[in-house]
Order: sequence, then structure tokens, then C-alpha cells
Amino acid sequence: MHPNAMTKLLNLMVIALLITVAASDTPATAYTNHTVGGDAGWLFDAKTNKSTTNYTSWAANQTFNLGDYLIFNTNTNQSVIQTYNETTFRSCSIDDASDNDTSHFNGGETEFGKSLTIAVPLTITGPNYFFSDADDGVQCQTGMAFEISVNRGLGLPPSLNHPPPPPYIEQPGPDNAQPPPVTIAGGSPALENGALRSSANVRFLLPLLLCGFASFLA
Ligand SMILES: *[C@@H]1O[C@H](CO)[C@@H](O)[C@H](O)[C@H]1NC(C)=O
Ligand SMILES: *[C@@H]1O[C@H](CO)[C@@H](O)[C@H](O)[C@H]1NC(C)=O
Ligand SMILES: *[C@@H]1O[C@H](CO)[C@@H](O)[C@H](O)[C@H]1NC(C)=O
Ligand SMILES: *[C@@H]1O[C@H](CO)[C@@H](O)[C@H](O)[C@H]1NC(C)=O
Ligand SMILES: *[C@@H]1O[C@H](CO)[C@@H](O)[C@H](O)[C@H]1NC(C)=O
Ligand SMILES: *[C@@H]1O[C@H](CO)[C@@H](O)[C@H](O)[C@H]1NC(C)=O
Ligand SMILES: *[C@@H]1O[C@H](CO)[C@@H](O)[C@H](O)[C@H]1NC(C)=O
Repeated sequence: MHPNAMTKLLNLMVIALLITVAASDTPATAYTNHTVGGDAGWLFDAKTNKSTTNYTSWAANQTFNLGDYLIFNTNTNQSVIQTYNETTFRSCSIDDASDNDTSHFNGGETEFGKSLTIAVPLTITGPNYFFSDADDGVQCQTGMAFEISVNRGLGLPPSLNHPPPPPYIEQPGPDNAQPPPVTIAGGSPALENGALRSSANVRFLLPLLLCGFASFLA
């Protein structure tokens, strides 16, 4: 083969290789859904007067990032309160809470003992506090409470970038049946993440590709 043709062929192969590498790259990190308490779920045991697991220990073993979700597998005998206000957290009550820093997720159920899965997105970095205010704070005082620290990670995915103001509603109970204000935006963070990473790779590879192409033309 003519040496010039050989060089061109080599350049072509390099370009093909670069394109393959860019396409097959998998994301290094992704958004995570954390199942609160693992298999134990988010449950209070009324017989022992204790939480079914130690949520502080559970949380200590996880890394939390923006765009992750906490998945509470629970029932309506517990509540899910998220707050950024440590005073509210320590008080085990939302009676004095302000609706700009505290949200109550109840999935819209108003009957006791109904099983429920609640997904809470993590949208603010730093301390996030969670507790159940059911049984007049007894659940919270006996272990239905934990604190996490949320890191930036990949940042918020577009689906969570403009969260609605946090909803603030009463406990489920016989006299205050209300429709659920909580809607969790869908979307596919993992895919968006892949797309982001790919475009970053193309940006990085573009000069290389151009170099290869230029020497191909030479
Ligand atoms: C559970 O503990 C609370 C105080 O933490 C107490 O008032 C209540 O009587 C206890 N209930 C049972 C069933 O032991
Ligand atoms: C849960 O575990 C932490 C240590 O991870 C400990 O400090 C705390 O006392 C435990 N809580 C309960 C209610 O046992
Ligand atoms: C936390 O992780 C460590 C090591 O990864 C493990 O030994 C420990 O049992 C875990 N604790 C809990 C509560 O899962
Ligand atoms: C935190 O909540 C308490 C009531 O639980 C309220 O008095 C206090 O002003 C709040 N703190 C901030 C910084 O909003
Ligand atoms: C919530 O409102 C209180 C005043 O009512 C204010 O002090 C506090 O900074 C606000 N918190 C947030 C997170 O906006
Ligand atoms: C929920 O609480 C009610 C009333 O305290 C009790 O009768 C029921 O057994 C509880 N259900 C579950 C699933 O814990
Ligand atoms: C995480 O939970 C959210 C909310 O339920 C859901 O939209 C998303 O698909 C889940 N992601 C994964 C990777 O399971």
C-alpha cells in the first residue's frame, strides 16, 4: 500500500476509535433512590414503643446528593415531615413550623394503617431533617427521626430544578380529609445524566477529531 494511503487509513481508524469511545462511555455517577430504613421501612412499632430500625445508623451509611430521592415505605400511622429547620426537628412537632421550610408528605391518604410509598426529592444542599410527628411526637421522640447532609453531587436534574413551594398540610385524621398537594415530577435523571456526560465528552473530543481530520486531509 502507498505510504500516503496508509497514513490516511490510520487516521480514519483513529477517528472511528474516538467515536466508539465517546459512544460507549458510561456515566461515572448517577442519581440514587435511598429506601429509608432499608427492608425495615419507615415504621413505628406500637408494641415496643420504638422505631423498627435505627434511622440514624441507616443514614450514616449513605451518601446523599441533590436530585436523589428518599423512598419511605410506610403506612398512614406514621407521617413524613421534611424540614430544614433544626428547631422544628428537635421539637418533634410542626405546630409552630413555617411553611417555607417544612413539608408534610401524606400521599393523600386519610385512613389509619393504609400502606403508602412516599418519594421525597432532595433539592437543597446541607442539613435536611426528617421525622414523623404522629402520636403527638412520641414516634419522633422514640426514634422516628433522622438528619442527613445533602451534597451537591451532579446538581439538580432539570425535572427538579424549579420545585413548587413546599406543601404544608394537616395530619391525616377523621376531621381533616384533604386532597394530596404533593406531586413528584417524573423524568428520568439517570438518562439525563447520561446525555449530559455524552455532550461533555463530545466537547472534549471535538478538537481531537478535528486534528485527526486535518491530518487526514493533509
Ligand atoms: C410510649 O412512650 C411514651 C413516652 O415516650 C409514653 O408516654 C407511652 O405511654 C409509651 N407507650 C407504651 C405503649 O409503652
Ligand atoms: C441509633 O444509633 C446511634 C449510633 O449510630 C446511637 O447514637 C443512637 O442512640 C441510636 N438510637 C436509638 C434510639 O437506639
Ligand atoms: C454500615 O456500613 C459498614 C461498612 O460498610 C457496615 O459494617 C455496617 O454494618 C453498616 N451499618 C449499617 C447500619 O448498615
Ligand atoms: C424554625 O422554626 C421555628 C418554629 O419551630 C421558628 O420559631 C423559627 O423562626 C424557625 N427558624 C427559621 C430560621 O426560620
Ligand atoms: C422562612 O421565613 C422566616 C420568617 O417567617 C425567615 O426568617 C426564614 O429565613 C425563612 N426561611 C427560608 C428557608 O426561606
Ligand atoms: C394503625 O393505628 C391504628 C390506631 O392506632 C391501629 O389500630 C392499627 O393497628 C395500626 N395499623 C398498623 C398497620 O400499624
Ligand atoms: C426514583 O424515584 C423517583 C420518584 O419515585 C422515580 O421517578 C425514579 O424513576 C426513581 N429512580 C430510580 C433510578 O429508581
